[in-house]
Amino acid sequence: MQPSDRVMNPRHVFISVLMFGVAGLLFFMYLQAWIEEQHTVNGTLSKRRFQEHFENTMLRAYQRSVAANLNKRQTTVIRGKHSQEQANTLSEVASSLLSQLYEQQKMTKSLLKHLKQLNLPPVMRPLNKSLIKDDRWKNADEAQEKRRSFLYDFCKKYSSKNQLRTHLVRMVSRIYVEDRHRILYCEVPKAGCSNWKRILMVLNGLASSAYSISHNTVHYGKHLKKLDSYDLKGIQRRLNTYTKILFVRDPMERLVSAFRDKFEHPNSYYHPVFGKAIIKKYRLNAHEMALKTGSGVKFKEFIQYLLDSQRPVGMDIHWEQISKLCYPCLINYDFIGKFETLEEDANYFLQLIGAPAELTFPNFKDRHSSDERTNTEVVRQYLNELSITERQLTYDFYYLDNLMFNYTTPIV
Ligand SMILES: *[C@@H]1O[C@H](CO)[C@@H](O)[C@H](O)[C@H]1NC(C)=O
Ligand SMILES: *[C@@H]1O[C@H](CO)[C@@H](O)[C@H](O)[C@H]1NC(C)=O
Repeated sequence: MQPSDRVMNPRHVFISVLMFGVAGLLFFMYLQAWIEEQHTVNGTLSKRRFQEHFENTMLRAYQRSVAANLNKRQTTVIRGKHSQEQANTLSEVASSLLSQLYEQQKMTKSLLKHLKQLNLPPVMRPLNKSLIKDDRWKNADEAQEKRRSFLYDFCKKYSSKNQLRTHLVRMVSRIYVEDRHRILYCEVPKAGCSNWKRILMVLNGLASSAYSISHNTVHYGKHLKKLDSYDLKGIQRRLNTYTKILFVRDPMERLVSAFRDKFEHPNSYYHPVFGKAIIKKYRLNAHEMALKTGSGVKFKEFIQYLLDSQRPVGMDIHWEQISKLCYPCLINYDFIGKFETLEEDANYFLQLIGAPAELTFPNFKDRHSSDERTNTEVVRQYLNELSITERQLTYDFYYLDNLMFNYTTPIV
């Protein structure tokens, strides 16, 4: 072996290891920012797990490269060979991760570019009521027509479609597709979305009964397709021809319901991620244990976080405004259901689309089912913990949702 080989080899190794280390760190930081962004719009666990795995792999690679770098002074030829192997492994990991990232960026970019050309469905289309044969649905139908024209008038007055177009990528990632009955459903958490997904799975032939699908299968299974999984033509065709539905809920009720679900029960995601940050920033003299677990967030603290223009942690789909989740003025939804009349609206909708007669909307609550439902009285109790100003600012926070869906009377 030439003496120069001995000198050059380890040096090469160190440089490459260091480079991968730096690349790893940068990439890791980029991922963090990306995850933060994703988080506000897409909180599904499967995606999160994938991201965590991604992040951990990168972190490990980075740690290994730092360790290798620190050892450089003691390196012998043998160690040098060893590091060379490590460097090769690292290089493979890094390049495979980078190419995955690159693919992802390419896809998002091309989707974004194409979405700009999307012609959104023009105005409100009439509902096709040819399958409604009896008078049973008269009330549901009247309410539906009122809501549709109310939203339509609102959007005509206030919305600027061009401004909203930049959000198209987010939007199409929130819409579920049911191709057999030609339905697009925009998911609004805490407004009956688990049962809606169950119904769509049954309609799609993915399950025989809504009652047999577990909570986890509904939310973390990869069953229903989302609108962003199609190409531009596919997206365009579906937006123009499918029945687009949205289910909404009184913003205060939805907010309290989200708080109870995520913070008043053990939760391995919301406590460490949101709870910790909230307690750290808004609780004076917090106990060490609370700071460590993030459990026990109070409603008032949660509202302080919600109203803070410098939130220590981002928004989440469970309390994000419906106007930002589903863009009702951009999509021209054909059917607007309300959680307050969920079963009536849902069953009327199932009639409209000609669903099998035996299929009705399930009325069960599959998480924390022993808890009292979040109703007006429960909401009142929570809102009483806030100051008048906090209450007012919270209503204002959901101002657009209140207006669009005619939730005008605040519960005080
Ligand atoms: C309305 O629905 C019926 C039954 O699905 C269908 O045959 C008819 O073509 C539809 N009408 C329009 C205008 O789409
Ligand atoms: C809006 O809400 C008010 C009060 O609840 C109700 O009287 C009215 O009919 C609603 N308007 C529409 C268009 O639904």
